[in-house]
Amino acid sequence: MKKVNKINYDVKDLSLAEQGKLNIEWAAQQMPVLNIIKKRFSREKPLKGLTIAACLHVTKETANLVLTLKEGGANILLCASNPLSTQDDIASSLVKDFEIPVFAIKGEDNKTYYKHLNEVLDSNPQITMDDGADLVSMLHKERRPQAKNIIGSSEETTTGVIRLKAMEKDKELLFPVVAVNDSDTKHLFDNRYGTGQSSIDGIIRATNLLLAGKNFVVCGYGWCSKGVAMRAKGMGANVIVTEIDPVKALEAVMDGFQVMKIGKALKVADIAITATGNKNVISEKMIENMKDGIVLANTGHFNVEINTEYLEKVKKSKRNLRNSLDEYVLRNGKKVYLLADGRLVNLAAAEGHPAEVMDMSFANQAYACEWLLDNKGKLKNKVYALSEKIDHSIASLKLFSMGVSFDRLTAEQKKYLSSWQEGT
Ligand code: NAD
Ligand code: ADE
Repeated sequence: MKKVNKINYDVKDLSLAEQGKLNIEWAAQQMPVLNIIKKRFSREKPLKGLTIAACLHVTKETANLVLTLKEGGANILLCASNPLSTQDDIASSLVKDFEIPVFAIKGEDNKTYYKHLNEVLDSNPQITMDDGADLVSMLHKERRPQAKNIIGSSEETTTGVIRLKAMEKDKELLFPVVAVNDSDTKHLFDNRYGTGQSSIDGIIRATNLLLAGKNFVVCGYGWCSKGVAMRAKGMGANVIVTEIDPVKALEAVMDGFQVMKIGKALKVADIAITATGNKNVISEKMIENMKDGIVLANTGHFNVEINTEYLEKVKKSKRNLRNSLDEYVLRNGKKVYLLADGRLVNLAAAEGHPAEVMDMSFANQAYACEWLLDNKGKLKNKVYALSEKIDHSIASLKLFSMGVSFDRLTAEQKKYLSSWQEGT
């Protein structure tokens, strides 16, 4: 841990701050909804005196969330929610220009990653924010006495919400949590359009391959994966979808994609990407039988979707060819190209989602924080979603910022929609 102006921190290099500040400013210009909240927070100081520990991807968009919460009066500390997603210039600027304690270095090993989580929790926060439930998990497994000081937590992503709902089901949850991912203004836009564009961006930055004409396999047809499939199709790839849910598989068929079993799909795939939130999706058996020269990427939360341990086990040789691109030659002579160690390709090989979608995700985070505080002592140890009213207000502000107007129900229509007497 280092110190500057009494601020504890651990970032790569403070001399990167100048570029970081410019990037934070650039993102702010694309985040009008968050800016409106920031202005109100600045006037009302709803978070005055509150300590917040955040474990999020350290990006220019996250920086704008952190500055919004600080403007609301909070003391906020930040660590990374993935060892490879930190933008070092942003981490440096947050420390140097904005006096935020940040603990995050791109490429940190697992030991440092968890040390950084412990460092933000050492601040004794009343609210925690997660992208993947790692802080909540640490509070429940290793730092239980601290949980009684927690008013609540908010969770950004699908995998985190799944973990938290499992804790609620097992009656293990020690405080209330807001599932930000469950807001429509989060998963419909961030997961679909954000992951769709930024994952393709990551694959292209890592490989500079042409997508047109390639066999492009997308594992899953949920919010993220359908976004990736849609964008890959738009760039001229032959997209093949794999699924385990018959309804999603049918949806993919009717959206015009080929659907097949994963083993068969990987035999013809030039590029394959996982986005399921599940483990061992590209398994040992498949790795042996994949097309020679296949490019593998993952954009699901954890690096468990592609069995990289098996790749390591059956490799004859491995070379790093360029940023985020490793070549494996397997014992059977086939080549496999793995992007970003099988971690979130959009954040590790590119810059994550564009600010325009993070605007809505992080407006939800800011509201979640305020809501937890407003409802302090009244909530159960459960996973809550934000109200439809908040969702609608975020969507309306976003539309307003885009110069788009939309219709409202008339009194007659409202009455009609809530009655049953009228018919033909
Ligand atoms: P989702 O639940 O909407 O979709 C997941 C889909 O995967 C489901 O349709 C499910 O049936 C399918 N699936 C599960 N196991 C499968 C298997 N073995 N083979 C094929 N399909 C399978 O979830 P989502 O919101 O799309 O999130 C997916 C993952 O992406 C999660 O881990 C989430 O946390 C993560 N995520 C990443 C980013 C990012 O920036 N890269 C952004 C948001 C979410
Ligand atoms: N998750 C996906 N993209 C992101 C971004 N740009 N910032 C923070 N979290 C993200």
